[in-house]
Amino acid sequence: MGVPMATKKKTASRSAPKKKAAPRKKQAPGAKPRTLAIDIGGTGVKALVLDAKGKTLTERVRVETPKPATPAAVLGAIREIAKSFGDFERISCGFPGVVIGGVVHTAANLGTEAWRGFQLAKKLSAAFGNVPARALNDAGVQGFGIVQGKGTEMVLTLGTGMGCALFIDGRYVPNLELAHHPFHKRKSYEDWIGNKALKRVGKQEWNKRVRQVLAVVQPIFNPTVIYLGGGNAHKLHGRLPKNVKIGDNVAGLLGGIALWRET
Ligand code: BGC
Repeated sequence: MGVPMATKKKTASRSAPKKKAAPRKKQAPGAKPRTLAIDIGGTGVKALVLDAKGKTLTERVRVETPKPATPAAVLGAIREIAKSFGDFERISCGFPGVVIGGVVHTAANLGTEAWRGFQLAKKLSAAFGNVPARALNDAGVQGFGIVQGKGTEMVLTLGTGMGCALFIDGRYVPNLELAHHPFHKRKSYEDWIGNKALKRVGKQEWNKRVRQVLAVVQPIFNPTVIYLGGGNAHKLHGRLPKNVKIGDNVAGLLGGIALWRET
């Protein structure tokens, strides 16, 4: 991703015959490699299995996020969910914090410091017989399941926390942590519109607040479109700005297939 192309000297002579591109194999529905797609959230851990093309092969299964949400407990919950699925050949995982190179740097809503430096991709792989595993910020994965690949597309997830992801012509800008940036007085964006705020101020006021956030964000990033995802997005009512669309929360799992395409 974003790696500059190496400049290659042209060596082919004019008369060299052009190589024909190998015909693409058609993939049957259900084709391997199948991906166990996981979405770890502050409230729920969700998972399903996707085929090689990203089509769902199983129902989405959700369990409550264990309390305390230590790495061992969360991995245990994922193992439990996966018992009801068939085989899979690789794993994609969305995680509610900064993830760089498969390693967790922050986990604001999991309530334990134990995640800092946790080798999530490696440990997931080890937990499932060393199948390859990749992990990314949850809003990033959600975005991969929603964006159209054109222009500046922004994803805000409204759940336990506030996730944020930015895509430029389909390329992901990783770990844009708007959630903990100051928004109003001493309150961060997440304090303002996260799940705790929704519970405290009620749906009506929360709806107003989400619109305030949108109004602040729009002139900074000037996105072509903002997708609202996350478990609370369906609690929005009334008109939204023209370029704001509500996405399906299952995108947080469907986007898992892109982790194998884009990195
Ligand atoms: C985290 C983000 C995450 C969001 C939604 C925030 O608290 O900092 O990384 O995407 O919650 O889970």
